[in-house]
Amino acid sequence: MSAGPNRARPRAASAPTAGQLALELPLELPAIALEPDWKAQQRLWGHSFHPMCSYLASFPAALTHAFIARYSRPGDVVLDPFSGRGTTPLQACAEGRIGVGNDLNPFAHLLTASKVRPATRPAATTRLTQLRLAWTGEATTYLALALRVIADPAGTRIPRAGSGDPKGADEPVPTEVALAFHPETLAQLLFVRTSLRLDDRTDRFLAAAITGILHGKSASYLSELMPNTFSMAPRYVRDFAARTAFASPRRDVFDGLAAKLDRLFRQPPPPIEGIALLGDARDVAGPAREALRQLGRPDRARLVVTSPPYLRVVKYGYYNWLRTWFLGFDAREIDATLDDAHHREPYLAFLRDVLAGLRAVLADDAVVVLVIGDVETDRGRRIKGGVGLAERAWEQAAEPEGYRLAGVALDDVAALRKMTKLWGSEAGRATKTDRILVLGATEAGRRRALASASLDIDWAWPPRALRAI
Ligand SMILES: C[S@@+](CC[C@H](N)C(=O)[O-])C[C@H]1O[C@@H](n2cnc3c(N)ncnc32)[C@H](O)[C@@H]1O
Repeated sequence: MSAGPNRARPRAASAPTAGQLALELPLELPAIALEPDWKAQQRLWGHSFHPMCSYLASFPAALTHAFIARYSRPGDVVLDPFSGRGTTPLQACAEGRIGVGNDLNPFAHLLTASKVRPATRPAATTRLTQLRLAWTGEATTYLALALRVIADPAGTRIPRAGSGDPKGADEPVPTEVALAFHPETLAQLLFVRTSLRLDDRTDRFLAAAITGILHGKSASYLSELMPNTFSMAPRYVRDFAARTAFASPRRDVFDGLAAKLDRLFRQPPPPIEGIALLGDARDVAGPAREALRQLGRPDRARLVVTSPPYLRVVKYGYYNWLRTWFLGFDAREIDATLDDAHHREPYLAFLRDVLAGLRAVLADDAVVVLVIGDVETDRGRRIKGGVGLAERAWEQAAEPEGYRLAGVALDDVAALRKMTKLWGSEAGRATKTDRILVLGATEAGRRRALASASLDIDWAWPPRALRAI
Protein backbone atom coordinates (compact mmCIF):
# COMPACT_ATOMS: atom_id res chain seq x y z
CA MET A 1 0.00 0.00 0.00
CA SER A 2 1.18 3.49 -0.67
CA ALA A 3 2.38 5.76 2.09
CA GLY A 4 -0.33 7.90 3.64
CA PRO A 5 -1.67 9.06 6.96
CA ASN A 6 -2.34 5.43 7.80
CA ARG A 7 1.16 4.21 7.09
CA ALA A 8 3.07 2.68 10.02
CA ARG A 9 5.02 5.49 11.60
CA PRO A 10 8.03 5.76 13.87
CA ARG A 11 7.18 6.33 17.50
CA ALA A 12 8.38 9.89 17.40
CA ALA A 13 5.54 10.69 15.00
CA SER A 14 2.93 9.46 17.47
CA ALA A 15 4.17 10.54 20.87
CA PRO A 16 1.67 9.17 23.39
CA THR A 17 -0.64 11.63 25.07
CA ALA A 18 -1.81 11.44 28.68
CA GLY A 19 -3.98 8.40 29.25
CA GLN A 20 -2.65 6.56 26.25
CA LEU A 21 -1.54 3.00 26.51
CA ALA A 22 2.04 3.95 26.07
CA LEU A 23 3.71 1.15 28.00
CA GLU A 24 5.84 -1.17 25.91
CA LEU A 25 4.31 0.10 22.69
CA PRO A 26 5.83 -1.41 19.63
CA LEU A 27 8.19 1.04 18.08
CA GLU A 28 6.65 1.38 14.71
CA LEU A 29 2.88 1.57 15.32
CA PRO A 30 0.88 4.54 16.56
CA ALA A 31 -1.00 4.27 19.85
CA ILE A 32 -4.70 4.94 20.13
CA ALA A 33 -5.90 7.13 22.99
CA LEU A 34 -8.19 4.53 24.48
CA GLU A 35 -8.28 4.05 28.24
CA PRO A 36 -8.03 0.40 29.25
CA ASP A 37 -10.73 0.86 31.91
CA TRP A 38 -11.92 -2.72 31.36
CA LYS A 39 -9.01 -3.73 33.57
CA ALA A 40 -10.52 -1.84 36.50
CA GLN A 41 -13.75 -3.87 36.39
CA GLN A 42 -14.57 -6.90 38.51
CA ARG A 43 -13.58 -10.30 37.15
CA LEU A 44 -17.16 -11.32 36.43
CA TRP A 45 -18.28 -7.98 35.00
CA GLY A 46 -21.03 -8.42 32.39
CA HIS A 47 -23.94 -10.68 31.69
CA SER A 48 -24.45 -13.69 33.96
CA PHE A 49 -24.29 -16.09 30.98
CA HIS A 50 -20.60 -15.28 30.37
CA PRO A 51 -19.21 -17.69 32.98
CA MET A 52 -21.31 -20.58 31.68
CA CYS A 53 -18.17 -22.62 31.05
CA SER A 54 -14.53 -21.66 31.17
CA TYR A 55 -12.78 -21.41 27.80
CA LEU A 56 -9.06 -21.03 27.20
CA ALA A 57 -7.73 -17.72 25.90
CA SER A 58 -11.11 -16.03 26.16
CA PHE A 59 -11.13 -12.30 26.72
CA PRO A 60 -13.12 -10.63 29.52
CA ALA A 61 -16.59 -9.31 28.76
CA ALA A 62 -15.49 -5.89 30.01
CA LEU A 63 -12.96 -5.65 27.18
CA THR A 64 -15.67 -6.26 24.57
CA HIS A 65 -17.90 -3.67 26.24
CA ALA A 66 -15.18 -1.03 25.88
CA PHE A 67 -15.44 -1.44 22.11
CA ILE A 68 -19.14 -2.29 21.76
CA ALA A 69 -20.14 0.84 23.68
CA ARG A 70 -17.76 3.07 21.72
CA TYR A 71 -18.12 1.72 18.23
CA SER A 72 -21.70 0.44 17.85
CA ARG A 73 -25.24 1.50 18.60
CA PRO A 74 -28.25 -0.56 19.64
CA GLY A 75 -29.51 -2.38 16.55
CA ASP A 76 -26.05 -2.58 14.93
CA VAL A 77 -24.51 -5.92 14.01
CA VAL A 78 -21.42 -6.86 16.03
CA LEU A 79 -19.43 -9.82 14.72
CA ASP A 80 -16.77 -12.14 16.08
CA PRO A 81 -15.49 -14.64 13.48
CA PHE A 82 -13.53 -16.52 16.23
CA SER A 83 -16.17 -16.36 18.94
CA GLY A 84 -14.87 -19.03 21.35
CA ARG A 85 -17.13 -19.10 24.40
CA GLY A 86 -19.20 -16.31 22.77
CA THR A 87 -17.99 -13.30 24.76
CA THR A 88 -18.42 -10.68 22.03
CA PRO A 89 -21.79 -11.81 20.62
CA LEU A 90 -23.31 -12.32 24.08
CA GLN A 91 -22.17 -8.95 25.38
CA ALA A 92 -23.37 -7.33 22.14
CA CYS A 93 -26.86 -8.91 22.49
CA ALA A 94 -26.96 -7.92 26.15
CA GLU A 95 -26.38 -4.32 25.04
CA GLY A 96 -29.13 -4.37 22.42
CA ARG A 97 -26.89 -5.08 19.42
CA ILE A 98 -27.19 -8.08 17.13
CA GLY A 99 -24.32 -10.30 18.19
CA VAL A 100 -23.02 -12.71 15.56
CA GLY A 101 -20.49 -15.34 16.57
CA ASN A 102 -18.71 -17.87 14.41
CA ASP A 103 -16.24 -20.60 15.35
CA LEU A 104 -14.95 -23.76 13.73
CA ASN A 105 -14.86 -25.61 17.05
CA PRO A 106 -18.21 -27.32 17.72
CA PHE A 107 -17.70 -26.88 21.48
CA ALA A 108 -17.22 -23.11 21.00
CA HIS A 109 -20.24 -23.05 18.69
CA LEU A 110 -22.35 -24.79 21.32
CA LEU A 111 -21.33 -22.27 24.00
CA THR A 112 -21.93 -19.30 21.68
CA ALA A 113 -25.31 -20.63 20.53
CA SER A 114 -26.38 -21.31 24.10
CA LYS A 115 -25.69 -17.69 25.00
CA VAL A 116 -27.09 -15.83 22.01
CA ARG A 117 -30.09 -18.14 21.51
CA PRO A 118 -30.56 -19.34 25.07
CA ALA A 119 -33.27 -21.37 26.73
CA THR A 120 -35.86 -19.43 28.67
CA ARG A 121 -35.71 -19.96 32.39
CA PRO A 122 -39.10 -21.70 32.54
CA ALA A 123 -38.14 -24.05 29.66
CA ALA A 124 -34.82 -24.88 31.32
CA THR A 125 -36.36 -25.65 34.71
CA THR A 126 -39.22 -27.65 33.18
CA ARG A 127 -36.76 -29.77 31.20
CA LEU A 128 -34.67 -30.30 34.32
CA THR A 129 -37.75 -31.50 36.19
CA GLN A 130 -38.58 -33.87 33.32
CA LEU A 131 -35.06 -35.27 33.43
CA ARG A 132 -35.25 -35.80 37.20
CA LEU A 133 -38.52 -37.70 36.78
CA ALA A 134 -37.25 -39.78 33.89
CA TRP A 135 -34.12 -40.57 35.90
CA THR A 136 -36.14 -42.32 38.60
CA GLY A 137 -37.34 -44.80 35.97
CA GLU A 138 -33.89 -45.27 34.40
CA ALA A 139 -31.62 -45.18 37.44
CA THR A 140 -31.21 -48.95 37.74
CA THR A 141 -30.21 -49.37 34.10
CA TYR A 142 -27.71 -46.51 34.16
CA LEU A 143 -26.25 -47.44 37.52
CA ALA A 144 -25.54 -50.94 36.21
CA LEU A 145 -23.94 -49.39 33.11
CA ALA A 146 -21.80 -47.02 35.20
CA LEU A 147 -20.57 -49.92 37.35
CA ARG A 148 -19.64 -51.88 34.21
CA VAL A 149 -17.79 -48.86 32.83
CA ILE A 150 -15.85 -48.48 36.09
CA ALA A 151 -15.03 -52.19 36.33
CA ASP A 152 -14.04 -52.60 32.69
CA PRO A 153 -13.85 -49.32 30.77
CA ALA A 154 -12.06 -50.86 27.81
CA GLY A 155 -14.62 -53.65 27.43
CA THR A 156 -17.83 -51.62 27.90
CA ARG A 157 -19.73 -49.72 25.26
CA ILE A 158 -22.19 -46.94 25.99
CA PRO A 159 -25.09 -45.24 24.17
CA ARG A 160 -24.24 -42.44 21.77
CA ALA A 161 -24.66 -38.88 23.10
CA GLY A 162 -28.16 -37.68 22.28
CA SER A 163 -29.33 -41.08 21.03
CA GLY A 164 -32.06 -41.36 23.66
CA ASP A 165 -31.49 -45.12 23.74
CA PRO A 166 -30.42 -46.39 27.18
CA LYS A 167 -29.75 -49.84 25.71
CA GLY A 168 -27.47 -48.53 22.96
CA ALA A 169 -23.94 -49.91 22.92
CA ASP A 170 -22.65 -47.56 20.27
CA GLU A 171 -19.28 -46.36 21.44
CA PRO A 172 -16.35 -47.02 23.78
CA VAL A 173 -15.74 -44.82 26.79
CA PRO A 174 -12.35 -43.36 27.74
CA THR A 175 -10.82 -45.00 30.83
CA GLU A 176 -10.26 -41.58 32.41
CA VAL A 177 -14.00 -40.84 32.35
CA ALA A 178 -14.52 -43.80 34.65
CA LEU A 179 -11.84 -42.46 37.00
CA ALA A 180 -13.28 -38.97 37.23
CA PHE A 181 -16.70 -39.55 38.79
CA HIS A 182 -18.46 -41.27 41.67
CA PRO A 183 -20.45 -44.25 40.25
CA GLU A 184 -23.83 -42.58 40.88
CA THR A 185 -22.68 -39.31 39.36
CA LEU A 186 -21.37 -41.20 36.34
CA ALA A 187 -24.70 -43.03 36.01
CA GLN A 188 -26.62 -39.73 36.02
CA LEU A 189 -24.17 -38.20 33.56
CA LEU A 190 -24.51 -41.14 31.18
CA PHE A 191 -28.28 -40.78 31.39
CA VAL A 192 -28.22 -37.03 30.76
CA ARG A 193 -25.65 -37.41 27.98
CA THR A 194 -27.85 -39.94 26.23
CA SER A 195 -31.00 -37.87 26.73
CA LEU A 196 -29.98 -34.31 25.79
CA ARG A 197 -30.31 -33.44 22.11
CA LEU A 198 -27.96 -30.69 21.07
CA ASP A 199 -30.18 -29.61 18.19
CA ASP A 200 -32.86 -28.62 20.71
CA ARG A 201 -32.39 -25.14 22.11
CA THR A 202 -33.27 -25.96 25.71
CA ASP A 203 -31.30 -29.22 25.79
CA ARG A 204 -28.30 -27.46 24.25
CA PHE A 205 -28.44 -24.83 27.00
CA LEU A 206 -28.55 -27.52 29.70
CA ALA A 207 -25.68 -29.43 28.07
CA ALA A 208 -23.58 -26.24 27.91
CA ALA A 209 -24.38 -25.51 31.55
CA ILE A 210 -23.25 -29.05 32.52
CA THR A 211 -19.92 -28.62 30.71
CA GLY A 212 -19.38 -25.66 33.05
CA ILE A 213 -19.79 -27.78 36.19
CA LEU A 214 -18.21 -31.01 34.94
CA HIS A 215 -14.90 -30.60 36.74
CA GLY A 216 -13.43 -28.17 39.23
CA LYS A 217 -12.04 -27.92 42.70
CA SER A 218 -15.10 -27.21 44.80
CA ALA A 219 -18.36 -28.84 45.84
CA SER A 220 -20.29 -27.23 42.99
CA TYR A 221 -18.47 -29.41 40.43
CA LEU A 222 -19.30 -32.97 39.46
CA SER A 223 -15.70 -34.16 39.63
CA GLU A 224 -12.84 -32.77 41.69
CA LEU A 225 -10.24 -34.63 39.70
CA MET A 226 -9.17 -31.60 37.71
CA PRO A 227 -9.44 -27.83 37.69
CA ASN A 228 -12.31 -26.04 36.06
CA THR A 229 -10.18 -24.20 33.53
CA PHE A 230 -9.41 -27.20 31.30
CA SER A 231 -9.16 -30.97 31.30
CA MET A 232 -5.87 -32.38 32.59
CA ALA A 233 -3.92 -34.57 30.19
CA PRO A 234 -5.38 -38.11 30.22
CA ARG A 235 -2.04 -39.66 31.20
CA TYR A 236 -1.72 -37.25 34.10
CA VAL A 237 -5.26 -38.14 35.17
CA ARG A 238 -4.41 -41.86 35.23
CA ASP A 239 -1.13 -41.33 37.14
CA PHE A 240 -2.71 -38.92 39.60
CA ALA A 241 -5.69 -41.20 40.26
CA ALA A 242 -3.40 -44.20 40.82
CA ARG A 243 -0.92 -42.30 42.99
CA THR A 244 -3.53 -40.72 45.26
CA ALA A 245 -6.15 -43.51 45.16
CA PHE A 246 -8.52 -40.77 44.01
CA ALA A 247 -12.21 -41.40 44.64
CA SER A 248 -14.59 -38.67 43.56
CA PRO A 249 -17.21 -37.64 46.12
CA ARG A 250 -20.83 -38.31 45.13
CA ARG A 251 -22.35 -35.29 43.41
CA ASP A 252 -25.94 -35.07 42.21
CA VAL A 253 -26.03 -33.93 38.58
CA PHE A 254 -29.58 -32.54 38.83
CA ASP A 255 -28.87 -30.53 42.00
CA GLY A 256 -25.61 -29.25 40.50
CA LEU A 257 -27.42 -28.25 37.32
CA ALA A 258 -30.25 -26.55 39.22
CA ALA A 259 -27.73 -24.45 41.15
CA LYS A 260 -25.89 -23.61 37.94
CA LEU A 261 -29.16 -22.49 36.29
CA ASP A 262 -29.82 -20.22 39.27
CA ARG A 263 -26.44 -18.59 38.75
CA LEU A 264 -26.89 -18.26 34.99
CA PHE A 265 -30.34 -16.71 35.29
CA ARG A 266 -29.28 -14.15 37.89
CA GLN A 267 -29.94 -11.71 35.07
CA PRO A 268 -32.68 -12.05 32.46
CA PRO A 269 -31.54 -13.33 29.04
CA PRO A 270 -30.30 -10.60 26.66
CA PRO A 271 -33.06 -8.48 25.10
CA ILE A 272 -31.91 -9.35 21.56
CA GLU A 273 -31.24 -12.75 20.03
CA GLY A 274 -28.06 -13.21 18.08
CA ILE A 275 -26.61 -15.69 15.63
CA ALA A 276 -24.13 -18.52 16.16
CA LEU A 277 -22.42 -20.00 13.11
CA LEU A 278 -20.23 -23.08 12.88
CA GLY A 279 -17.60 -22.59 10.22
CA ASP A 280 -14.25 -21.36 9.06
CA ALA A 281 -13.60 -17.68 9.78
CA ARG A 282 -12.32 -17.24 6.21
CA ASP A 283 -15.78 -18.01 4.87
CA VAL A 284 -17.93 -16.26 7.46
CA ALA A 285 -19.26 -13.39 5.31
CA GLY A 286 -21.77 -15.37 3.22
CA PRO A 287 -23.37 -17.41 6.02
CA ALA A 288 -23.44 -14.39 8.34
CA ARG A 289 -25.21 -12.18 5.81
CA GLU A 290 -27.64 -14.93 4.91
CA ALA A 291 -28.51 -15.58 8.57
CA LEU A 292 -28.92 -11.84 9.24
CA ARG A 293 -31.22 -11.44 6.24
CA GLN A 294 -33.32 -14.35 7.43
CA LEU A 295 -33.79 -12.56 10.73
CA GLY A 296 -34.71 -9.36 8.90
CA ARG A 297 -31.64 -7.58 10.28
CA PRO A 298 -29.06 -5.35 8.59
CA ASP A 299 -26.68 -7.74 6.85
CA ARG A 300 -23.39 -5.98 7.50
CA ALA A 301 -21.42 -5.58 10.70
CA ARG A 302 -20.53 -2.19 12.06
CA LEU A 303 -18.07 -3.63 14.50
CA VAL A 304 -15.86 -6.71 14.74
CA VAL A 305 -14.25 -7.56 18.08
CA THR A 306 -12.22 -10.71 17.84
CA SER A 307 -9.18 -12.58 19.01
CA PRO A 308 -7.79 -14.94 16.37
CA PRO A 309 -6.33 -18.27 17.50
CA TYR A 310 -2.95 -17.93 19.15
CA LEU A 311 0.16 -19.04 17.36
CA ARG A 312 0.68 -22.72 18.21
CA VAL A 313 -0.67 -22.65 21.74
CA VAL A 314 -4.10 -23.97 22.52
CA LYS A 315 -5.43 -27.36 21.57
CA TYR A 316 -9.09 -26.72 22.15
CA GLY A 317 -10.08 -30.36 21.75
CA TYR A 318 -7.38 -31.97 23.88
CA TYR A 319 -7.60 -29.41 26.69
CA ASN A 320 -11.37 -29.99 26.84
CA TRP A 321 -11.49 -33.74 26.28
CA LEU A 322 -13.85 -34.48 29.17
CA ARG A 323 -16.29 -31.80 28.06
CA THR A 324 -16.11 -32.84 24.42
CA TRP A 325 -16.67 -36.45 25.48
CA PHE A 326 -19.79 -35.42 27.39
CA LEU A 327 -21.08 -33.55 24.34
CA GLY A 328 -20.27 -36.42 21.97
CA PHE A 329 -17.61 -34.47 20.01
CA ASP A 330 -14.30 -35.95 18.96
CA ALA A 331 -11.46 -33.97 20.60
CA ARG A 332 -8.85 -35.19 18.10
CA GLU A 333 -10.98 -34.23 15.16
CA ILE A 334 -11.45 -30.74 16.63
CA ASP A 335 -7.70 -30.24 16.96
CA ALA A 336 -7.11 -31.53 13.45
CA THR A 337 -9.55 -28.95 12.06
CA LEU A 338 -8.64 -25.77 13.94
CA ASP A 339 -6.03 -23.27 12.85
CA ASP A 340 -3.92 -22.97 15.97
CA ALA A 341 -0.87 -24.87 14.85
CA HIS A 342 0.65 -22.41 12.45
CA HIS A 343 4.10 -21.01 12.13
CA ARG A 344 4.22 -17.28 11.76
CA GLU A 345 4.10 -16.95 7.99
CA PRO A 346 1.18 -19.35 7.37
CA TYR A 347 -0.54 -17.78 10.37
CA LEU A 348 -0.26 -14.31 8.86
CA ALA A 349 -1.43 -15.62 5.49
CA PHE A 350 -4.41 -17.19 7.30
CA LEU A 351 -5.19 -13.91 9.02
CA ARG A 352 -4.95 -12.07 5.73
CA ASP A 353 -7.44 -14.51 4.18
CA VAL A 354 -9.78 -13.96 7.15
CA LEU A 355 -9.57 -10.17 6.77
CA ALA A 356 -10.09 -10.43 3.01
CA GLY A 357 -13.14 -12.64 3.51
CA LEU A 358 -14.59 -10.37 6.17
CA ARG A 359 -14.85 -7.37 3.84
CA ALA A 360 -18.09 -8.57 2.27
CA VAL A 361 -19.86 -8.50 5.63
CA LEU A 362 -18.49 -5.15 6.84
CA ALA A 363 -20.35 -1.85 6.73
CA ASP A 364 -18.42 0.93 5.01
CA ASP A 365 -17.50 2.62 8.26
CA ALA A 366 -16.94 -0.62 10.19
CA VAL A 367 -14.37 -0.72 12.98
CA VAL A 368 -12.40 -3.94 13.35
CA VAL A 369 -10.73 -4.71 16.66
CA LEU A 370 -8.17 -7.52 16.66
CA VAL A 371 -6.86 -8.73 20.02
CA ILE A 372 -3.59 -10.47 19.27
CA GLY A 373 -1.57 -12.35 21.85
CA ASP A 374 2.19 -12.37 21.69
CA VAL A 375 3.55 -15.85 22.33
CA GLU A 376 7.17 -16.53 23.12
CA THR A 377 7.39 -20.28 23.39
CA ASP A 378 5.46 -23.36 22.41
CA ARG A 379 6.01 -26.56 24.37
CA GLY A 380 9.27 -25.18 25.68
CA ARG A 381 10.61 -24.14 22.28
CA ARG A 382 10.99 -20.52 21.42
CA ILE A 383 8.71 -19.45 18.59
CA LYS A 384 10.44 -17.42 15.97
CA GLY A 385 8.38 -14.32 15.37
CA GLY A 386 5.96 -14.99 18.22
CA VAL A 387 6.60 -11.59 19.71
CA GLY A 388 5.59 -8.58 17.68
CA LEU A 389 2.88 -10.62 16.03
CA ALA A 390 0.38 -7.74 16.09
CA GLU A 391 2.77 -5.50 14.19
CA ARG A 392 3.32 -8.20 11.60
CA ALA A 393 -0.44 -8.81 11.45
CA TRP A 394 -0.90 -5.17 10.54
CA GLU A 395 1.85 -5.12 7.94
CA GLN A 396 1.26 -8.49 6.35
CA ALA A 397 -2.46 -9.14 6.79
CA ALA A 398 -4.50 -5.99 7.40
CA GLU A 399 -2.68 -3.29 5.47
CA PRO A 400 -2.39 -5.32 2.24
CA GLU A 401 -6.15 -5.90 2.39
CA GLY A 402 -6.81 -2.16 2.51
CA TYR A 403 -7.69 -1.77 6.19
CA ARG A 404 -6.78 1.52 7.81
CA LEU A 405 -4.94 1.59 11.13
CA ALA A 406 -6.46 3.77 13.84
CA GLY A 407 -3.89 2.63 16.38
CA VAL A 408 -2.74 -0.03 18.75
CA ALA A 409 -3.76 -0.52 22.38
CA LEU A 410 -2.28 -2.88 24.95
CA ASP A 411 -3.82 -5.30 27.36
CA ASP A 412 -2.27 -7.57 29.95
CA VAL A 413 -3.18 -11.16 29.48
CA ALA A 414 -3.22 -13.81 32.16
CA ALA A 415 -5.26 -16.28 30.15
CA LEU A 416 -2.66 -18.95 29.70
CA ARG A 417 -0.59 -18.54 32.82
CA LYS A 418 -2.56 -20.92 34.97
CA MET A 419 -2.68 -23.48 32.22
CA THR A 420 1.06 -23.27 31.68
CA LYS A 421 1.67 -23.92 35.36
CA LEU A 422 -0.41 -27.07 35.26
CA TRP A 423 0.64 -28.43 31.88
CA GLY A 424 4.28 -27.45 32.27
CA SER A 425 6.19 -27.55 29.05
CA GLU A 426 3.23 -29.12 27.22
CA ALA A 427 1.58 -25.75 26.85
CA GLY A 428 2.77 -22.57 25.26
CA ARG A 429 3.52 -19.55 27.35
CA ALA A 430 2.00 -16.23 26.46
CA THR A 431 3.86 -13.07 27.24
CA LYS A 432 2.13 -10.64 29.55
CA THR A 433 0.86 -8.46 26.76
CA ASP A 434 -1.91 -8.66 24.24
CA ARG A 435 -1.89 -6.02 21.58
CA ILE A 436 -5.14 -4.67 20.29
CA LEU A 437 -5.18 -3.46 16.71
CA VAL A 438 -7.97 -0.97 16.08
CA LEU A 439 -8.67 -0.78 12.35
CA GLY A 440 -11.14 0.86 10.04
CA ALA A 441 -12.53 -1.14 7.15
CA THR A 442 -12.12 2.13 5.24
CA GLU A 443 -10.88 5.62 6.01
CA ALA A 444 -14.39 6.41 7.32
CA GLY A 445 -14.02 3.52 9.76
CA ARG A 446 -10.61 4.70 10.87
CA ARG A 447 -11.93 8.21 11.50
CA ARG A 448 -14.84 6.82 13.47
CA ALA A 449 -12.45 4.70 15.53
CA LEU A 450 -10.31 7.73 16.35
CA ALA A 451 -13.23 10.05 17.01
CA SER A 452 -14.88 7.72 19.54
CA ALA A 453 -11.72 6.44 21.22
CA SER A 454 -11.80 9.01 24.01
CA LEU A 455 -15.53 8.72 24.77
CA ASP A 456 -16.40 8.01 28.38
CA ILE A 457 -18.00 4.63 28.85
CA ASP A 458 -20.75 3.78 31.30
CA TRP A 459 -19.54 0.78 33.33
CA ALA A 460 -22.76 0.27 35.31
CA TRP A 461 -23.87 -3.35 34.95
CA PRO A 462 -26.61 -4.48 34.51
CA PRO A 463 -27.26 -1.33 32.48
CA ARG A 464 -29.87 1.05 33.82
CA ALA A 465 -31.16 1.42 30.27
CA LEU A 466 -29.81 0.73 26.83
CA ARG A 467 -27.93 3.80 25.77
CA ALA A 468 -27.21 5.19 22.35
CA ILE A 469 -23.72 6.59 22.09
C1 LIG B 1 -8.41 -16.96 21.10
S1 LIG B 1 -9.82 -17.97 20.83
C2 LIG B 1 -11.16 -16.83 20.88
C3 LIG B 1 -11.73 -16.68 22.25
C4 LIG B 1 -12.87 -15.71 22.34
N1 LIG B 1 -12.47 -14.35 22.12
C5 LIG B 1 -13.57 -15.82 23.70
O1 LIG B 1 -13.68 -14.82 24.42
O2 LIG B 1 -13.95 -16.93 24.06
C6 LIG B 1 -9.69 -18.38 19.14
C7 LIG B 1 -10.80 -19.23 18.59
O3 LIG B 1 -10.56 -19.47 17.21
C8 LIG B 1 -11.18 -20.71 16.89
N2 LIG B 1 -10.66 -21.13 15.56
C9 LIG B 1 -9.47 -21.67 15.24
N3 LIG B 1 -9.37 -21.81 13.91
C10 LIG B 1 -10.51 -21.31 13.35
C11 LIG B 1 -10.99 -21.13 12.02
N4 LIG B 1 -10.26 -21.50 10.95
N5 LIG B 1 -12.19 -20.57 11.84
C12 LIG B 1 -12.96 -20.19 12.91
N6 LIG B 1 -12.55 -20.35 14.19
C13 LIG B 1 -11.35 -20.89 14.42
C14 LIG B 1 -10.86 -21.59 18.07
O4 LIG B 1 -11.78 -22.65 18.17
C15 LIG B 1 -10.99 -20.59 19.23
O5 LIG B 1 -12.27 -20.66 19.79
